Amino acid sequence: MITNTSLEYKGDLYPSKIVSFEHEGDSIFFNTDNKVILKVTILRDSLIRFRFTTKGYFSNDFSYAIDKTQLHGYNFLELTEEETYFQIRTSKVKCKIQKADLRLSIYDLNDLLILEDELGFHWEESYEYGGNIVKMSKSSKDGECFYGLGDKATQMNLKGKRLENFATDQYAYQKDQEPLYKVVPFYIGLHNKQSYGIFFDNTFRTFFDFCQERRNVSSFWAEGGEMNYYFIYGPQMQDVVTTYTDLTGKPELPPLWVLGYHQCKWSYYPESKVKEITSKFRELKIPCDAIYLDIDYMEGFRCFTWNKNYFPDPKRMVAELAEDGFKTIVIIDPGIKIDKDYWVYQEALEKDYFCKRADGPYMKGKVWPGECNFPDYTNPVVREWWAGLFKELISDIGVKGVWNDMNEPAVMEVPNKTFPMDVRHVYDGNPCSHRKAHNIYGTQMARATYHGVKRFTYPKRPFVITRSAYSGAQRYTSSWTGDNVATWEHLWIANIQVQRMSISGMGFTGSDIGGFAEQPTGELYARWIQLGVFHPFCRTHSSGDHGNQEPWAFDEEVINITRKFVSLRYQLLPYLYTMFWQYIEEGIPMLKPLVYYDQEDTQTHYRNDEFIFGNQILVCPILEPNAVGRRMYIPRGEWYNYWTNEFSTGGREVWIDTKFDEIPVFVKAGAIIPKYPVQQYVGELEFDELTLDLYFKNGKEKSVVYEDAQDGYDYKKGRYSFLSFRTIGKEKELIVQLHKEGKYHTPYSKYKINLIGLPFKVTEIEIDNEKIAFDKIAFEENHFLIVDKEFSELHISGE
Ligand code: GLC
Repeated sequence: MITNTSLEYKGDLYPSKIVSFEHEGDSIFFNTDNKVILKVTILRDSLIRFRFTTKGYFSNDFSYAIDKTQLHGYNFLELTEEETYFQIRTSKVKCKIQKADLRLSIYDLNDLLILEDELGFHWEESYEYGGNIVKMSKSSKDGECFYGLGDKATQMNLKGKRLENFATDQYAYQKDQEPLYKVVPFYIGLHNKQSYGIFFDNTFRTFFDFCQERRNVSSFWAEGGEMNYYFIYGPQMQDVVTTYTDLTGKPELPPLWVLGYHQCKWSYYPESKVKEITSKFRELKIPCDAIYLDIDYMEGFRCFTWNKNYFPDPKRMVAELAEDGFKTIVIIDPGIKIDKDYWVYQEALEKDYFCKRADGPYMKGKVWPGECNFPDYTNPVVREWWAGLFKELISDIGVKGVWNDMNEPAVMEVPNKTFPMDVRHVYDGNPCSHRKAHNIYGTQMARATYHGVKRFTYPKRPFVITRSAYSGAQRYTSSWTGDNVATWEHLWIANIQVQRMSISGMGFTGSDIGGFAEQPTGELYARWIQLGVFHPFCRTHSSGDHGNQEPWAFDEEVINITRKFVSLRYQLLPYLYTMFWQYIEEGIPMLKPLVYYDQEDTQTHYRNDEFIFGNQILVCPILEPNAVGRRMYIPRGEWYNYWTNEFSTGGREVWIDTKFDEIPVFVKAGAIIPKYPVQQYVGELEFDELTLDLYFKNGKEKSVVYEDAQDGYDYKKGRYSFLSFRTIGKEKELIVQLHKEGKYHTPYSKYKINLIGLPFKVTEIEIDNEKIAFDKIAFEENHFLIVDKEFSELHISGE
């Protein structure tokens, strides 16, 4: 196999035959007669770890990615020995390990082959660095598809592609450009209607080849470290993704305002400019919850300082913005300016917290402030110090969130755009070079930031966003897709990237709406906003080099479209919050590519554009100029056009007409979609009713609504409200059953029910078996009020 490494190729080595094995609890060790050991650990029935060493012993087992709280025990494990292989059986899968060469194959319990080694584990010794280049190849079946891997700017289905994981500051990247900012060495394979996952937990530079080099082979390899991967059995993609997300960890809930709209630019300054922007949002009635300060708020780009000419009294400004409903978020980069009069630099120098070159000097590199040193966030002591630095920003000044950038780490004016590979890192007690620490540097920075922001924000919830990330970063931070460009192609990329991040465990992601580099036309901006409001993180950002990118930088029509779509997002906040809850509770991705939604339908396997927002809303952006509609695939099932309420059945590609102020949006039949009134910011209004849009289906459907105090941690003590609705529609009848959980009392007292698509004229309504007079519930044209939200069954009948 050819590798893309710069290292000299010395030839591959392979395990030889198994000579003995040991069974210890949930693990089995297979020893070969050339010092290779394979350790198989059954973590769950459908989650198996395969770890190889070539040294005759295993080094310390350490991972930043794995959520330690999730790593326990198995339910069932049966080991049998046959003539040519060993077999391990869980209650979901069987794994055969060949005695001759350690090659593996995995089957479901009906003996259907799920995954099989081609050459299996092999390696190349790396004389220059020590250790091995570790490699794995698997046979790939015809028709097999591949998904996942984080922020890749390419088609959803990765079949036929080779991808590289090395966190890189990739300004104005292009379609198919590799590598990008994030590293998620996790993919999903799908064939024979069965999904499985592979998580290759190795922080060195890694590569994945999905049948590009050889048509029937998929492979992955790393420039160092161990062949250490987790196999996850589906068979549904949902099982794979939720197990992976469980393994690498889930976040806490963000405060609800974070799910509102954010406005950003490089940079808004001075204070008067910031206020001009925020006031304009209120004047134009475009909802907005957060305003960002990019690097120019600092004194000479020194983190944790303020430029007092631009911002003479940040505390007062932040408080005044807060009175108008705006939360202030500031950027913090890793590069600390080398300046002996700068307190952060002095402290880090005194305490010896900066990264060092192999021979001792501090790692020095240029970023915005000029020459910088860089904290070693892989040192827990440094992380603790870094967390403490946020005290003034958060506790005293009142900043509500922190934006971590340039943490790939990015270095300017050097060919490799980052640290030299000899830089040393503590790696939490497993000292190593930058070759191993590079890909997790950004995550460890975001982790330290998260702990700091959380400490000083408590009892409220923190907000952190990062550009670089490795698997598991979702426990601490949200992310955005980096420096994109204001082109139609980038709108296409953004749509796929955010979906892909969603099925890669890191769903709390968005793109720079409108594009970071260059300037969008009004039409492109409008089309981007129309997609962006359906992304978990929703922020306009731009470099500022090419003009303004506030909604009013465009014409009246674009302003109106922005208002319409951002307002829709604010109406859908309870729906969005519920999807976030399902993500933190069960690891369910907030956006679902069509293949995730219906893997059995092969029509979905190569779709890129359409996705399911939450569980019941189908969205398809317009990705071309001058569009009067588009072709799209409506997945199987029954759907209502959101704008016209027209009913259609899916499982087919159709043409949908759209006006400039619409994109195709459909709601699943049977769904109940909860809505709040439009607010200019979260918490602006007190309201007494929750709107429930009920889309009739002849059949059954379940819908849920999660709510809580919208901030703080009481939800962890059971103070939340969880409504599960079951709708049962018949020819002349509709029944809605409501089941409630949780100790939180939502402040509103009524439900406003909108009946959509009802095939009969309502003649009678019963609530909890009691017939209700229409005037008591303000019944009018298929909408009415339920005054007592404690009901458990609603019965609507008609003729
Ligand atoms: C990087 C970031 C961008 C930011 C700029 C200045 O390019 O990706 O979002 O505005 O730096 O801080």
